[in-house]
Amino acid sequence: MSALLRRMTAADLPEVFRIEQTSHPSPWPMKGLQESLQQHHAYVLVTAAGELGGFAFVQRILDEAHLLDIAIDPSLRGQGLGRELLRRLMDEELADGISIWFLEVRVSNQAAISLYQSLGYNELSIRRNYYDGPDGKEDALLMACSTGLG
Ligand SMILES: CC(C)(COP(=O)(O)OP(=O)(O)OC[C@H]1O[C@@H](n2cnc3c(N)ncnc32)[C@H](O)[C@@H]1OP(=O)(O)O)[C@@H](O)C(=O)NCCC(=O)NCCS
Repeated sequence: MSALLRRMTAADLPEVFRIEQTSHPSPWPMKGLQESLQQHHAYVLVTAAGELGGFAFVQRILDEAHLLDIAIDPSLRGQGLGRELLRRLMDEELADGISIWFLEVRVSNQAAISLYQSLGYNELSIRRNYYDGPDGKEDALLMACSTGLG
């Protein structure tokens, strides 16, 4: 049995919050997660063993999608779940009319950059001092992936 992709619900938020806190230097607070659930498309990946393995938030503007956040439970990383989550949610959104994806990623986040490149994302530009963090500001790579036919 493979992992299951489904829409996030409010009942998922405690687990999503736990993963978020262990995944980013400046994690979103619960309020930010609640607002994103209401305002954006939100997904969770449930493993074959029934664990909430990871989540993602996607902001949509017409045929554009912006990947706002994605994370896999630290204890489940390196097993292909991140790629499965992103590939499957991109398929879902493609079927719903999305033709181009954008995202920002910390320049130091080699794991995420490699994941995105493996799914066809290319570097567009650098956003200087985009991220705050405990160690000061950090630049972001702006990456894009075209999934449309045109
Ligand atoms: C980025 C993240 C979602 C990847 O999830 P994952 O389940 O560990 O990734 P996968 O096992 O699916 O690996 C997919 C690809 O990612 C890259 N990758 C994953 N972990 C890596 C690591 N530690 N170092 C380098 N590349 C890595 C590889 O290209 C890998 O493909 P390969 O196994 O064929 O080499 C996960 O590390 C995570 O949650 N990080 C913290 C949150 C985060 O940084 N999110 C991105 C914000 S922009």
